[in-house]
Amino acid sequence: MALINENYLKLKAGYLFPEIGRRVREFEQANPEAKIIRMGIGDVTRPLVPSVVKAFHEGVDEMAASASFKGYGPEQGYAFLREAIAANDFQARGVNISADDIFISDGSKCDTGNIQEIFGAANKIAICDPVYPVYADTTVMSGKTGVCMDNGYFENIIYMPCTEANGLLPELPAERPDLIFLCFPNNPTGTVASREVLKTWVDYAIANQSIILYDAAYEAFITDDTIPHSIFEIEGAEKVAIEFRSFSKTAGFTGTRCAFTVIPDGLMAYDSEGNAHKVKPLWMRRQTTKFNGVSYPVQKAAAAIYTEEGKKEVAEVIAYYLENARIMRESLTALGFKVYGGENAPYVWVKTANGLSSWDFFDLLLHKANVVGTPGSGFGPSGEGYFRFSAFADREKVIDAMSRVKAVI
Ligand code: MLT
Repeated sequence: MALINENYLKLKAGYLFPEIGRRVREFEQANPEAKIIRMGIGDVTRPLVPSVVKAFHEGVDEMAASASFKGYGPEQGYAFLREAIAANDFQARGVNISADDIFISDGSKCDTGNIQEIFGAANKIAICDPVYPVYADTTVMSGKTGVCMDNGYFENIIYMPCTEANGLLPELPAERPDLIFLCFPNNPTGTVASREVLKTWVDYAIANQSIILYDAAYEAFITDDTIPHSIFEIEGAEKVAIEFRSFSKTAGFTGTRCAFTVIPDGLMAYDSEGNAHKVKPLWMRRQTTKFNGVSYPVQKAAAAIYTEEGKKEVAEVIAYYLENARIMRESLTALGFKVYGGENAPYVWVKTANGLSSWDFFDLLLHKANVVGTPGSGFGPSGEGYFRFSAFADREKVIDAMSRVKAVI
């Protein structure tokens, strides 16, 4: 008899974004004439920039000629890409991360989920509430939790509510966690963490022998020079943190797929007898067993982001999305919404109008304005009564969406 992984049965609803997709499709079928504006899932809309497209084509051409054809690449990623990342994203900021600490992958969603495999089931995980659902769901899937309780929380997860009262920033938990998921700039709230805030977390992790799983997928949207782009800008973080980065939002790779995870050589975790082990070789072992790397043309395309031209082109796209976010912030504020995020982040987090629940507000906007956003409660109980707008949309649609929202609230 084939037995299932019963942890999957603990997951109550479907994954958030397919559920939104299902509701939108249902509405579309019933209202085929509706012109829907999608600002729900954070999926980019601007095309790949010219430098990336050129490198992508060159990569394909190399694959088409026997002299330059490539089969399996290195599981950790090609050195040319890892070296460009180490030099530009870390060493240029005075951070001591080398190409050997970098693992190229096909996405941060996969990496933030898969990383759980190299940590034992007895680990206690801390996550923010609201949170990017992947951290919570993969914690459940990996058997580290009990069942989902009536309040929407899973047994054995340490939740860190991020509310208006604490400025949407997690507070140090009363109970000691082994693994701590943090995401800045934050998805879904768009909040950023200052150097002081990150230092508090690094010091806490050092004192508690915990590891911070730091999702920096949106770092490219930071325009404030005082905000760190990497947790490794904080002294001591190389002993207690893993960082996840992605080209998805930085350079429009959601459909192309390329990301990377950084595990410093000195990062240690412990066995049940308290002996310390390096974490990096475990991830290397996992990747070499289960992953054959990202395709050569995609890695070549990703490396083009680090050329002078590529940097300029990508910065223009980021500025475009940030301008969308500014327009949204200002329009929604003028309409009387309480608005967060959207300044160093592509997400704008608002309190719903008239005290509506997140899903009621979702339905109102979908049905009356034909605008799709993401209900805050889909990110956790503390997201109830909030709504997330994504700035990854075409400018005229953002402007149109804001006037449609105005007309229905
Ligand atoms: C989101 O909308 O939260 C993101 O697109 C999800 C993701 O990056 O997987």
